[in-house]
Amino acid sequence: MNNDPDKNPLDKLPPILKKGLNKNLCTCNDVLKIDIINAIVNGATTVEEVQKQTYATDGIGCCKRQIKQLIECLCA
Ligand code: FES
Repeated sequence: MNNDPDKNPLDKLPPILKKGLNKNLCTCNDVLKIDIINAIVNGATTVEEVQKQTYATDGIGCCKRQIKQLIECLCA
């Protein structure tokens, strides 16, 4: 059995955060959750860096909390 979390970064997420990967997490700017996860996996370790790469949080910022949660889980 292989439990290496580096194999699939999604394994680091609790089930609730794996839902709706192909839906907008940032509805203000139409940014898919999977695109935000990819940005984090590819090195964006702060909300600001995720914003630079994806424009998520660039609206009224209502998705910031969820993005912080994703960063905490994926960068742990
Ligand atoms: S949903 Fe992302 S800024 Fe509003």
